[in-house]
Amino acid sequence: MSEQTPDQLIRMTYTSKATFTPLNDKKEGYDRNIINILTTSRRQNRKNKLVGALYFGNGYFFQCLEGAKQHIDALYAKLEKDERHTELKVLSLEPIEKFAFSSWEMKYAAIDQDVPSFLKSYGLDKFDPYHFTPEMTAELIHILQSANEGMAEA
Ligand SMILES: Cc1cc2nc3c(=O)[nH]c(=O)nc-3n(C[C@H](O)[C@H](O)[C@H](O)COP(=O)(O)O)c2cc1C
Repeated sequence: MSEQTPDQLIRMTYTSKATFTPLNDKKEGYDRNIINILTTSRRQNRKNKLVGALYFGNGYFFQCLEGAKQHIDALYAKLEKDERHTELKVLSLEPIEKFAFSSWEMKYAAIDQDVPSFLKSYGLDKFDPYHFTPEMTAELIHILQSANEGMAEA
């Protein structure tokens, strides 16, 4: 990777484990923790010119963030201290020319329907991003990009 200036645009993807037990019944609404995370993220990301997408499945977060390196670094430091999740692991980090998620301060991707076939194509049945290959991470980012927004009004 070439040398990065603080203003260099980057895309960073990480996974983490939720420390709370989420609501199981999707029909009854979204977990309060997720709603709170999205509300804060959207407000702050607008200020920090960050965009991205979040998916939550099987107790794991998978989040893709895009923006200036200095803003991503500052957010990551906060994320590491956030007690709603733990064991953060960076899955990909790359310089980019333009945003893939430019329309979303934080898209909550409704991909529950797509994940099983994605996993199946790699011979897996459980969503566990800690064991993703770089290829799987890239493919899931792509799926997030084309997914519908699951919670536009959080
Ligand atoms: C899974 C997860 C994803 C998060 N995503 C973001 C985000 O995209 N942007 C953001 O500002 N905060 C995000 N947060 C919240 C931050 O950890 C932090 O609580 C928030 O930025 C407020 O920090 P502050 O009040 O110290 O400024 C996320 C938290 C979790 C648990």
